Amino acid sequence: MERLPITEFDMSEALFDEASEHVSGILKSALEAKGKASLFCAGGSTPGPLYERLSSTKLNWKHITIGLTDERWVGFQAAGSNEAFLRSVLLKLGSEASAARFLPMVTDPLLDPSDEAAHIDAYYRPHAREADCVIVGMGTDGHTLSWFPESEGLMEVLDSRTSRLVSALEARLTNVTGIHTRRVTLTAAAIAHAKNVLLLITGAEKREIYLSSADNSPTGMLRAAAANRLKVYWSP
Ligand code: 6PG
Repeated sequence: MERLPITEFDMSEALFDEASEHVSGILKSALEAKGKASLFCAGGSTPGPLYERLSSTKLNWKHITIGLTDERWVGFQAAGSNEAFLRSVLLKLGSEASAARFLPMVTDPLLDPSDEAAHIDAYYRPHAREADCVIVGMGTDGHTLSWFPESEGLMEVLDSRTSRLVSALEARLTNVTGIHTRRVTLTAAAIAHAKNVLLLITGAEKREIYLSSADNSPTGMLRAAAANRLKVYWSP
């Protein structure tokens, strides 16, 4: 699979400045073209500064729908919740972006995510079937979204023939997954339909992991699904 070049920045500040401009431009164009836009955001330790920048960006946020790329199967007030993270950086009360509509990815943490996935898929679908922008990260195990290697249910999530845009999986417990092994995630089909996918990676270790990732690895599958709609931003 042809590997698109990585856009490299001298420092993370420059990466997040450019990423904010890039994402804002995508959303602005979508609003001008369709009167609405959809943005899907990953959790993790990397994208926070980008979300902080977007949070104060003047856009017609009331016509923008924001979802998650993936979520741990915990309540939105629980430690580890990506919704809680996003509400603390992007959707801060009183921020410009707080006017956006948010789509939670957990219905009820007491229920079984695999039973709930079809319902979540149903309300994500109108916005995820042609996402304007998807922001993802990559873990040091090479996972992206919640596409953790050797997860139960990963084959279905990555199967390009699946019609599902959202699916549940059970990750194998590692030091990267932490205790949150029950996950819900956008599928490769959702990425294949997305108009813009932005992968943010920082540090020498992740650069090497990405560049050496096999085509059948989670990031390899991201490349295959996103094709030339993928941009990779890297900084030290
Ligand atoms: C999560 C995130 C996940 C994240 C990667 C990379 O639930 O953990 O949504 O998909 O993007 O784990 O995270 P870092 O940015 O911390 O490397």
